[in-house]
Amino acid sequence: MANPYEEAFQRSINDPEGFWGEIAEDVHWYKKWDKVLDDSNKPFYRWFVGGELNTCYNALDLHIENGKGDQAALIYDSPVTDTIQTFTYTQLRDEVAKFAGVLAGMGVVKGDRVLIYMPMIPQAVIAMLATVRIGAVHSVVFGGFAAKELATRINDAKPKVLVSASCGIEVQRVIQYKPLLDQAIEMANDDSKPEKTIIFQRPQETASMIEGRDVDWNDAMATAKPADCVPVAATDPCYILYTSGTTGQPKGVVRDTGGHVVALKWTMKAIYNVDAGDVYWAASDVGWVVGHSYIVYAPLFKGCTTICFEGKPVGTPDAGVFWRVISQHKVRAMFTAPTAFRAIKREDPKAQLMQNYDLSKFEALFLAGERLDPNTLHWAEDCLKIPVIDHWWQTETGWAICANCLGLHQFPIKEGSPTKPAPGWNLKVVDDKNQEVPPGTIGALVVKLPLPPGALPTLWKADQRYIESYLEEFPGYYKTADAGFIDQDGYAFVMSRTDDIINVAGHRLSTGAMEEVLSDHPDVAECAVLGVEDDLKGQVPVGFVVLKAGVDRPKEEILGEVVKMVRERIGAVASFKKATVVKRLPKTRSGKILRGTIQKIADNKEFKVPATIDDPAILGEMEEALNTIGYAKSRGK
Ligand code: COA
Ligand code: AMP
Repeated sequence: MANPYEEAFQRSINDPEGFWGEIAEDVHWYKKWDKVLDDSNKPFYRWFVGGELNTCYNALDLHIENGKGDQAALIYDSPVTDTIQTFTYTQLRDEVAKFAGVLAGMGVVKGDRVLIYMPMIPQAVIAMLATVRIGAVHSVVFGGFAAKELATRINDAKPKVLVSASCGIEVQRVIQYKPLLDQAIEMANDDSKPEKTIIFQRPQETASMIEGRDVDWNDAMATAKPADCVPVAATDPCYILYTSGTTGQPKGVVRDTGGHVVALKWTMKAIYNVDAGDVYWAASDVGWVVGHSYIVYAPLFKGCTTICFEGKPVGTPDAGVFWRVISQHKVRAMFTAPTAFRAIKREDPKAQLMQNYDLSKFEALFLAGERLDPNTLHWAEDCLKIPVIDHWWQTETGWAICANCLGLHQFPIKEGSPTKPAPGWNLKVVDDKNQEVPPGTIGALVVKLPLPPGALPTLWKADQRYIESYLEEFPGYYKTADAGFIDQDGYAFVMSRTDDIINVAGHRLSTGAMEEVLSDHPDVAECAVLGVEDDLKGQVPVGFVVLKAGVDRPKEEILGEVVKMVRERIGAVASFKKATVVKRLPKTRSGKILRGTIQKIADNKEFKVPATIDDPAILGEMEEALNTIGYAKSRGK
């Protein structure tokens, strides 16, 4: 007999309308949909057309109406400010409704964009929910991005209002947000600049305000009238989240309203096996998709208690902080990136700090954002003695493509695999002729269209780019841009990206965007940036620069400058700290840089001299250059 996972999966593929239509009954609709799936305008599929709902209503008001107003909705746990603050559903709704009133008072209406650039404080969550309450569209930008990246997003989203805070708090320092914000607005195009900015002043750093444009959060809240939920079409956008593409121009991933609520609410039980009333913790940042889906939306749709954690896995104050949070708030399931566990393992290899805490309520650990390496998997399993679940997804997909769906059926874990496709995801492996390959054969991981509810319907104001980026290469499929295989038992294995994206501490970055920055240096003739293996962050970017003829300044000076440029233009989050000068880059005879080979040399792995290389002697030069910055042979693997 088929287990509940197999039944759900088969039905989701053979009868998607029946499958998702039933699940959608669990959501509050002002008006039910006319059609579950509209495929009349391929390749643009639309879910729940004709339906009307409100995201914020489903996240907050619905639970209050069902008598859960006094239950904790959000716990703000901030070891960096020594604060723990709990908001019940009623308290959170009241704050959100008031801030929605602030936005409405500034003229924000349905469809307008609100850009949010904030640290991990409850006001970030409040601003997101307030935006969708009035039918507007938020775009949250991660705090670790530099002013230029922020400006690019302002230009694309054209927000009416920008919401920020005076500062963010990192382990060693307070980061002023306001100067970055001011610079970004200065850099942005005139027709894209926000009319108003709202600044939440934190006690650690007071930002100076610009008269007429900047408004103090508390002042605005003091006089605001609460705003009610505005019904929007299921197909209206709920948010835009920019993610790295293969150029310096990030992609504005659009999330529609109906599919998002339906799919995410359902995943809480089906994938994470949590129920309403449970405490669920995603240790990420609201600036990333994990934060959108699993700090803010899904747990609230489900009626769980969610945690907004302002801290790091180590150093705030120590490598026991995750265990402290899990035990203090009685967390049932947690979600973070493997890099966080590598950081803990490095500081406390025997997990001695865990002994101080009662983790009896903790049932499952979920990891995603990058490949889960077997060492980290086994370390976490051995210490915690609960299922450690790898699951694979992307900003674009909004929720897991592959997972061990604990609420449906728990499969045995195979190291290196995020288990099987979640219901809704018709995952295939194809070759470059778009033909399915036999089990065990590596190819492109693609998803047969239509994508399930909650996945991106398009890119913001860029339908053509959506087609070119995701649908054109493998007709009939969505290209994940990950390569991998599916084994005989149906387990998927995700091996590597097929484009220039790298994953640094679970953060998705484009090496192409970094190369654009390096190329702008006046002394650089040519360059390449590659992601090399890193024990903590999974990958880190390393730059190779070829200097223009006649440049005789000290190399160290130039390298220092390019490192600084990446930090200034992309942000500290890029972790671009190492670069080296080479005489030339190894290329094929047709002029393509041999990235795979350079990467193997850097990681000190076996490699074959490619038959197409124009001059094999360059590989020796590369190795020498890499040795000078601690890679290649000097890694001693
Ligand atoms: N605002 C401003 N700067 C930020 C920032 C923010 N919100 N977040 C990170 N930065 C800065 C950091 O201070 C650091 O700057 P530095 O180069 O001056 O030290 C830089 O960006 C890189 O940050 P990060 O990648 O977080 O590295 P780290 O060394 O500070 O910490 C980890 C490493 C592993 C502890 C941390 O990345 C982590 O907890 N990651 C796992 C959880 C996670 O967020 N995953 C994301 C998706 S699930
Ligand atoms: P992001 O859009 O930031 O979520 O990054 C998505 C990319 O991260 C994917 O395309 C993968 O390359 C990688 N990724 C995410 N989760 C996993 C996982 N569980 N295993 C392997 N790679 C992953």
